Amino acid sequence: MRAGVFPDYEAMSAAAADVVARRLGEEHSSVLMLPTGITPLGMYRQLVEMHNSRGLSFADATFFNLDEYIGLAPDHRASYHVYMKENFYGLIDADPARVFVPDGTAPDPEAECERYEAVIRGTGGVDVCVLGIGRNGHIGFNEPGAPFDSRTRVVELSESTRKVNAADFEADRAPERAITVGMATIFEAREVMLLASGTNKAGAVAAAVEGDASESVPASMLKSHPHASLFLDEDAASGLGRGIAG
Ligand code: PGA
Repeated sequence: MRAGVFPDYEAMSAAAADVVARRLGEEHSSVLMLPTGITPLGMYRQLVEMHNSRGLSFADATFFNLDEYIGLAPDHRASYHVYMKENFYGLIDADPARVFVPDGTAPDPEAECERYEAVIRGTGGVDVCVLGIGRNGHIGFNEPGAPFDSRTRVVELSESTRKVNAADFEADRAPERAITVGMATIFEAREVMLLASGTNKAGAVAAAVEGDASESVPASMLKSHPHASLFLDEDAASGLGRGIAG
């Protein structure tokens, strides 16, 4: 797992956007798997800017979201459908027919997971998966303990994740369950980029990079991925010792 450390959030975001743009330039029909959260907003801004200013096109790409809350309609303001529309898909030339987000209101969530996994398989697999990381090391909504061989499935959210996400829900509590793409599904992406910013991620980043690969730190699975890179700002890298490259 290679690590790039950038002076600040904007530089980290620009570097990540450059990699995504380059992949798209090489292969217009790339399949991208994308995260929500605060961390990727800078990367999305940069990609939108490249679309507006120099015509970077996403028209032939396919997009999958990593996760969605169960019980939130696609037009709920805290849903990841709305997040992605407002921050990315609605601002570029994405083809709606090739934008996939798990349906959190599907009457049979388990069947929805199977359907989603089958759609991913049907595209020939993910070319680039972009991830954030939770303070507890989660990726997507794969919380500590998520089996490395897991597939897209219904998960219970940890109390700590619900607390972090509570701000999106005003009086409501954050939902208790979500659909997340599985660990094995993430691992099968040809390239994985994990973005982290801020000192509150430093511990999780260090545990993922410097500890053994363990299901108790989901992001540590990426240590054995043939093409995984970390994009860190200095704060997120501040827990790392020396010699993290390689
Ligand atoms: P954040 O979330 O980007 O909002 O910090 C990342 C995550 O929990 O995966």
